[in-house]
Amino acid sequence: MSIVYLNGDFLPIDEACISVTDRGFLFGDGVYEVIPAYGGRLFRLPHHLQRLQDSLDGIHLSNPLNESEWTQLLENLLERNQDRAGTNNDQSVYLQVTRGTAAKRDHSFPVEIRHTVYACSNPLPDPDPAVERDGVTAITLDDIRWAWCNIKATTLLPNVLLRQQAGERGASEAILIRDGHAIEASSSNIFIVRDGVIITPPKSQIMLPGITRDLVLELAGQHGIAYREDNIAEDELHDADEVWITSSTREIVPVTRLDDKAVGDGSPGQVWKTMLAHYRQYKDAVRCGDAG
Ligand code: PDD
Repeated sequence: MSIVYLNGDFLPIDEACISVTDRGFLFGDGVYEVIPAYGGRLFRLPHHLQRLQDSLDGIHLSNPLNESEWTQLLENLLERNQDRAGTNNDQSVYLQVTRGTAAKRDHSFPVEIRHTVYACSNPLPDPDPAVERDGVTAITLDDIRWAWCNIKATTLLPNVLLRQQAGERGASEAILIRDGHAIEASSSNIFIVRDGVIITPPKSQIMLPGITRDLVLELAGQHGIAYREDNIAEDELHDADEVWITSSTREIVPVTRLDDKAVGDGSPGQVWKTMLAHYRQYKDAVRCGDAG
């Protein structure tokens, strides 16, 4: 059975309970991270912990643990769940910090904060070969989320509704349009390729600063692949030679159909293939302990 961490204890998942007065439950008053681990080694951990800190700062909540305490906790969790992971021991860690419990339901912050800290880990399956062969379908939808999407808040109802709508229309992601521009997707960042140049929106308050996104740009820079951080107008998205989505659990996924039209020639593009090869090389280096 899965072993989880809750407020100082490691315990089987079916014994982990939180109070009904937890503000995470009542208000979605909390933040989270999703961190992949390859061969038991956490991928880009300092980047994830920095984004966690930024999210906590964004909701005016102190960090209950320091960097080495987080590292110890997460490594311990990976070890305890190793038996459930496949032979390659790839896992996906989820952690959540909420503003904890309070005597009564009140929108204002409690005077005394007792954080709820929760973390779990699940086996991370290998990427689906069919996705790499054929790509996935996406649709565009209006971005109905709030104005602080840079905070990785557990309050995900708009994302949930958008993703559900995509699924009901046979698509695996919803690319979100705000003021005529493609911002990101319901649970991933977006990239397009035009004339061999990779383009992704610049970081701002209205999108999540993806750790995978940053690594893709870093690898593009290292390998001399042209890229630009620039706004993507809706028609540029529809006219792109390639469209990709990125996230920690999905890596880099080619979108080959968008709003019922083929993207480019309808198959995963050449720039995507090159970038995925660099990404996989980096992932292998993490697995061997040669990169973080
Ligand atoms: N989601 N944008 C949104 C809205 C996201 O929810 C995510 C990740 C990303 C990609 O970020 P990263 O590369 O750091 O995973 C972008 C996670 C995986 C989730 O909610 O499960």
